[in-house]
Amino acid sequence: MSADSVEVRDATLDERAWANRVYASVDFEPSPAETVQLVAIVGGAIVGLGRLGAVGGGAVELGGMWTAESARGTGVAAAMVRALLARAGAADVWCVPFRPLVDYYARFGFAEVPPSAAPWPPGIAHKVARCAEHGQAIAIMRLP
Ligand SMILES: CC(C)(COP(=O)(O)OP(=O)(O)OC[C@H]1O[C@@H](n2cnc3c(N)ncnc32)[C@H](O)[C@@H]1OP(=O)(O)O)[C@@H](O)C(=O)NCCC(=O)NCCS
Repeated sequence: MSADSVEVRDATLDERAWANRVYASVDFEPSPAETVQLVAIVGGAIVGLGRLGAVGGGAVELGGMWTAESARGTGVAAAMVRALLARAGAADVWCVPFRPLVDYYARFGFAEVPPSAAPWPPGIAHKVARCAEHGQAIAIMRLP
C-alpha cells in the first residue's frame, strides 16, 4: 500500500462516536464536538484517526493519532498528519507526543519546546498534567 491510497476526510457523527470508543480503549480523551476529527480510510475501512483541537489563545493541538494495528508502518499516520497540518493553515500548532515519537513528528516540522517557554496554552498545560498523572513520558512540540 502507498500513502497515495489513503483517503483522509472529516468524520461523520457516527464515526466520531466510534473514534471516541477507540480513544477510550487506548486511554486518550474523547474529542469534544468542536474538535476537527478526521478519519483515514483504506479500501473502504477506517484505519486511522487524528484530530485538531483548540487549546486556547488561538492555538490548536494536533493529536489523537491512532492507526489500526493491521495498517501500521504503511504511512497512514503520515497522511493524517499532512491532512491535519493542511487544515490547521496558519494556526499556532502544538503537539504532545509520547516521547519515543519526537523524531517522527520532527519529520513534519515540529520542534521540541524547552521548559523555559512555559506557560503553555491552557489545553496543552491540561494535557501535560494528565499525562504526568498517568505516568506517560511525553514531549511538548510546536511548529516553529
Ligand atoms: C504512532 C502511530 C499513530 C503511527 O501510525 P502509523 O500509521 O504506523 O505511522 P506511519 O506509517 O506514518 O509511520 C511509521 C513510523 O512511526 C514511527 N513510530 C511508530 N511507533 C513508534 C514508536 N512506538 N516509537 C518510535 N517510533 C515509532 C516509526 O518511525 C515508524 O517507522 P517504521 O515504518 O520504520 O516503523 C501508531 O503506531 C499508533 O496508532 N500507535 C498507538 C497510539 C499512539 O501511540 N498514538 C500516538 C500518540 S503521540
